[in-house]
Amino acid sequence: MDVTVFSTKRYDRRFLDAANEAAGNPCRMRYLEARLSAESATLASGAQAICAFVNDTVDAAALGQLAAGGTRVVALRCAGFNNVDLKAAAAHDIAIGRVPAYSPEAVAEHTVAMILSLNRKIHRAYNRVREGNFALDGLLGFDLGRRTVGLVGTGKIGIAVARILKGFGCRVLACDPAPPPALDGLAELVSLDRLLAASDIISLHCPLTPQTRHLVNEASLARMKPGVMIINTGRGALLDATAAIAGLKSGAIGYLGLDVYEEEEELFFEDQSNQAIQDDVFARLLTFPNVLITGHQAFFTVEALEAIAAATIENLVAFAETGRPAYPVALEPAG
Ligand code: NAI
Repeated sequence: MDVTVFSTKRYDRRFLDAANEAAGNPCRMRYLEARLSAESATLASGAQAICAFVNDTVDAAALGQLAAGGTRVVALRCAGFNNVDLKAAAAHDIAIGRVPAYSPEAVAEHTVAMILSLNRKIHRAYNRVREGNFALDGLLGFDLGRRTVGLVGTGKIGIAVARILKGFGCRVLACDPAPPPALDGLAELVSLDRLLAASDIISLHCPLTPQTRHLVNEASLARMKPGVMIINTGRGALLDATAAIAGLKSGAIGYLGLDVYEEEEELFFEDQSNQAIQDDVFARLLTFPNVLITGHQAFFTVEALEAIAAATIENLVAFAETGRPAYPVALEPAG
């Protein structure tokens, strides 16, 4: 099967080639650096399958071009499919596959890395020591094991975070409308209000929905402990960045760790070090010493990339054999 892979980085190629080889090389990969859009879709002409990533545009126009070029299946190398027009895909008879779950531990461990770095100010200490500054002023931390951590969302990732924090001795609070039974003994289930009021550290692990959009906003910040630490490795729009800036300026937020950002499509996954950042809100966030930002890298471990590549090949092989990806994306209900 011919597969055109969009938005390819060196690491995608490495892991997809390995997974393809392990499966007996069922796919002939053609790697492109270009992001998928209506304009670039013609590059896939003649390929029965394409492979796309989280910031590719799989809209009606792109799907129309893909269908005209003979594409029958889109294999997403991610879990989310908010960038896909499912109705247009159905209209063009293009199947969509995704990777429903890869390593939750990868994201959980990055979350804890952010908590520890912000608390012990590792990002600042690293720079100081390189400049021969061994002063400790400004680097004062706290004992994590004596603090209360609130987890909003305790699915695959939230529960993995709870397990790690339990090991540190933290008191873990959780709010989740459908908590998994495995949470028993790891966290106390409380209301969101209680969690906001009682937590020293709040970490977001719920999906982005109309209900959770800007869950961290001016009103919810006012209900949190002054100087709270907020970590977002979920989705950028869970946090209102403008409200966060106001909270950082007033001291309401004592520490902020972000792996995701509401407007990240224009920023993340590319080297932009030779140009001015156009997003003023993002640029302002970068100026605070108590803000730590990573560019959507929480998932980025060997194990997670192996799992993503293996599931992608599985989707493609299943489609070639049965006309259906192994992990198909369910179509939206009509209307
Ligand atoms: P999951 O589906 O296993 O768990 C989500 C949990 O959130 C569920 O238990 C659900 O009941 C709960 N939830 C839903 N609405 C809620 C609400 N209003 N308040 C509190 N809890 C609520 O998902 P998983 O795999 O644990 O992923 C969590 C988040 O992490 C997702 O938003 C995902 O997009 C994000 N993520 C981020 C990555 C990164 O690299 N930064 C990589 C992978 C996922």
